[in-house]
Amino acid sequence: MTADDKKRAAARAALDHLDDARIIGVGTGSTVNHFIDALGSIRDRIEGAVSSSEASTARLRTAGIPVLDLNQTGTLDVYVDGADEANRQLQLIKGGGGALTREKIVAEASRRFVCIADDSKLVGLLGAFPLPVEVIPMARSLVARKLVALGGQPALREGFVTDNGNVILDVRNLDFTDAAGLETRINNIPGVITCGIFAHRPADLLLLGTDNGVEVIRA
Ligand code: 5RP
Repeated sequence: MTADDKKRAAARAALDHLDDARIIGVGTGSTVNHFIDALGSIRDRIEGAVSSSEASTARLRTAGIPVLDLNQTGTLDVYVDGADEANRQLQLIKGGGGALTREKIVAEASRRFVCIADDSKLVGLLGAFPLPVEVIPMARSLVARKLVALGGQPALREGFVTDNGNVILDVRNLDFTDAAGLETRINNIPGVITCGIFAHRPADLLLLGTDNGVEVIRA
């Protein structure tokens, strides 16, 4: 089974965990693209979706799913999104696709967060994947110096601008033994919009595509 087959299987399995929610929070990425395609098959049963990126918005519209404004919907019942890494506490690294800030907003606005991924994303300790940090452009050098002071090695994601008009620093070599503490420390640097650690708001459920089917992991 390819990684993409596993992503598709995890994405389809998420349909069984929507619990009749009428408005679905939708993340970003190749795994979520499979989820959006699957959601299209049940579009008559839902009112619409709140999207975490311009890319997902375009795909939702193509699938015939109305895209709703989070300010109008209020709290969502469920949010479905992928991850770049997940541990067994369901703390995540996200932002490989650069949509981390809107993803964190929609995750925070949701009662349940269902994470979908192939089994290469499950790790013992977070941090092999470079941590994405969204930064206001004028603060790029300041934030990079602060991240070096935390032990990290930041690199500017060349030629990339987020949906919010900001830049991404991808940071290697950080110590993730206290993921929630690290999330707080990085988010407190002036100029940082948010980092891609989801430890304060981890997932509630991880659907992991494997060679032997979809494994369900709860926090
Ligand atoms: C985008 C994300 C994605 O969820 C993450 O990069 C995983 O992507 P994929 O499903 O393509 O492996 O955080 O900002």
